[in-house]
Amino acid sequence: MNELIRVENLHKSYYDGSTELPVLKGIDMVIRAGEIISIVGASGVGKSTLLNILGALDRPTEGRVFYLQQEIFTMSDKKLAAFRSLEIGFVFQFHHLLPEFTALENVAMPALIARVSRNEAYDKAQKLLEHVGLKERLTHKPSKLSGGECQRVALARALVNNPKVILADEPTGNLDGKTSEAMHDLIWELNDRFNQIFIIATHNLSLAQRSDRMIHLVDGKISDGVQIADL
Ligand SMILES: Nc1ncnc2c1ncn2[C@@H]1O[C@H](COP(=O)(O)OP(=O)(O)OP(=O)(O)O)[C@@H](O)[C@H]1O
Ligand SMILES: [Mg+2]
Repeated sequence: MNELIRVENLHKSYYDGSTELPVLKGIDMVIRAGEIISIVGASGVGKSTLLNILGALDRPTEGRVFYLQQEIFTMSDKKLAAFRSLEIGFVFQFHHLLPEFTALENVAMPALIARVSRNEAYDKAQKLLEHVGLKERLTHKPSKLSGGECQRVALARALVNNPKVILADEPTGNLDGKTSEAMHDLIWELNDRFNQIFIIATHNLSLAQRSDRMIHLVDGKISDGVQIADL
C-alpha cells in the first residue's frame, strides 16, 4: 500500500499548572503518498496543534504517529529533529523568513543545516525559486518582496530538502484572493511534479474544496460531515 502516514488514537492536552485543556481527543487517520489534504474546523479547534504533532514539532499526550511504518515519537528529541529536517517541510501563515537573508539564502538554509554542500544547496535553492516564479528575485530580502512572493519563497524553502510531506498552516491566510489562488495553483503544480503530500490547515473554502480530502475537526475529533459554515 502507498500509505505514508498513520495516526492512531492521537490525544493532545495543554496544561496550565494542574488544569488540563484537552484539545485533540482521539484522532485516527491514514494519509497516502501524493495526497493533498485540508484540515478544516472552527478557530481554536486544534488544527495547528495537529499539524505541529504531524510535523514532529510537538509530542502528543497519547497516541502514535507512523511515517512509513516507523513510529516517530519513540525517537529521542535529537533523532526527531533530524527526521523533521529531512522528511518534513513547513509553510506558516506568516512566512517566517529570516529578514537579514536574501530569498536565495533563505531557501538554501535548511539544506545547509542538513549539511548539503554549499554549491548543491544554492543550486537547488535557485532552481526552486525559478519554479515558483521568482527567478528575478533571488537577491531580494523579505522586506523587498510582496506578501505573496514571501509565501512562494517559504514554499520553495519547504521543498529544498525534498521532504515527503509539506505541512502548511494557513499558507494563504494573509494574502488577497487572487494571490491566494495563484499560491494554490502553485501547490497543485508542485504536487503534480514532485508528488509530495501536502497537509494544509485552512479557513479558505476554495482551497479546502479543491483538496483531495477534507479532514474536519469538531470538538477534538474528526467529524464525518463537513459544515461549510465552519471554514
Ligand atoms: N502552547 C499552548 N499552550 C496552551 N494552550 C494552547 C497552546 N497552543 C494552543 N493552545 C490552545 O489549544 C486550542 C487549539 O489551538 P490551535 O492553535 O491548534 O487551534 P486552530 O484550530 O489552529 O485555530 P485557528 O483556526 O485560530 O488557527 C486553543 O484553544 C488554544 O488556545
Ligand atoms: Mg491555527
